[in-house]
Amino acid sequence: MNYNITLIPGDGIGPEVVAGAVKVLDKVAAKFGHEFSLTEKLAGGIAIDATGVPLPQDTIDAAKAADAVLLGAVGGPKWDDQPGSNRPEMAILGLRKELGLYANLRPAILFDELKDACPLKPEIIVGGLDILVVRELTGGIYFGEKGTKTVDGEEVAYDVEQYSVSEIERIARVAFEMAQKRSKKVTSVDKANVLESSRLWRRTVERIAKDYPDVTLDHLYIDNAAMQLVRAPKQFDVILTSNIFGDILSDEASQITGSIGMLPSSSLSDGGFGLYEPIHGSAPDIAGTDKANPIATIMSLSMLLRYSLSLAAEADAIDQAVETFLKDGYRTVDIAEDGKKVVGTKEAGDIIANYL
Ligand code: IPM
Ligand code: MG
Repeated sequence: MNYNITLIPGDGIGPEVVAGAVKVLDKVAAKFGHEFSLTEKLAGGIAIDATGVPLPQDTIDAAKAADAVLLGAVGGPKWDDQPGSNRPEMAILGLRKELGLYANLRPAILFDELKDACPLKPEIIVGGLDILVVRELTGGIYFGEKGTKTVDGEEVAYDVEQYSVSEIERIARVAFEMAQKRSKKVTSVDKANVLESSRLWRRTVERIAKDYPDVTLDHLYIDNAAMQLVRAPKQFDVILTSNIFGDILSDEASQITGSIGMLPSSSLSDGGFGLYEPIHGSAPDIAGTDKANPIATIMSLSMLLRYSLSLAAEADAIDQAVETFLKDGYRTVDIAEDGKKVVGTKEAGDIIANYL
C-alpha cells in the first residue's frame, strides 16, 4: 500500500528524534512491502525564521492532504520575544484547530525494564502502570475568548474557560470507547465544586456514560486527581479531562513512568486522521548533542500506523523493537542506569530500526 505522511520536524531536538522514526519507517516499508511518501514541512520557530509565521498555510495544506502527520517539537528561547500570537507554540495550537484534532490520547506506561526510573516507591507501582490520558484538545481555556483591558486604571488579562455539550460529548465517547478496549474504567477529572463549565462537563459525561454500561465511571476534582496520581496511580485506567487539566496531568503521568522521553501521543479527529508527536517538547538545552531519546517519537510513529493507517502488525513490530532495545540493555542518557549500554540519539534509532 502507498501512504502519504507529512513530517514536521520543527525545532530543538525535533529533527533529531524524527530522523530516528524515519529510519524505523524505512524498515517497516521494506519488511511489510509498503510505500510511504514523506513530505517535510515547516512549523514553529524554524517557520518563523523562514517565513515570518509559525504555521505557514502550505504546512496546513500538506497536513490536510496527508493520511497522517508526524511532528517532532516546536519552540525555544530564540523565539521567546515573539508576541503571543506569533509564538512557535501557535503552530501546534493552529494545527490542532485547523485539523479538528479534538481527541488527544496520551498513554503513560511504565515499562518493566524501567521500573527503577520511576520516582515512586516500589510498593505503589507493583504490577506496573498503564494509564491513558484522554485530553480534550480543541476547546476550553486554550481557545476561549482572551484579551487584555483596563479596569479602574489597571491592566487586566483574561482567558475564558468554556465548553459546549457537543464538545464534551464527543471527547467523552472517545474515552469510553478506549476504556472498553482496556480495563473498563473512566475517571473524569474536573473542578465541578467551583467551575460552571466543569458542572456541565460532569453532567454531560454522566449522561454519555449510560451508553457504556460495561464501563465504570467515577469523578475526581483536578486537585485531588493530581494528588492521587502520585499517591495511588494504580486506581487509574482512562483519565478523561479538559484541555488545560489534561495538559497538566499528562506531564505528571509521564514523570511517574520514568521519563518524559518515552511518551508518545496522538491527536485525532473524526475518521481516523491524526497528528502524532512525542510529548516531551523541543528540549533546546540538549538540541544537537545527540542526547535526546527518540523512543517517544518512534512510539508516536507506532500509534500513527495503528490508528491512522490501520497497520496493527506493523505497529506491534515497532513496539516489540523498542522493548527488545530496552531488554538488551540499551539506554539513552535520560534513562541511563549503571551496567547498561548508553547510546546517543542516532545509534538508538539505528539499533531499534535494525531489530525490525
Ligand atoms: C502539550 C504542550 C502544548 C500544550 C504547548 C506546546 C502549546 O504543552 O502538548 O502538552 O499546552 O498543549
Ligand atoms: Mg503540555
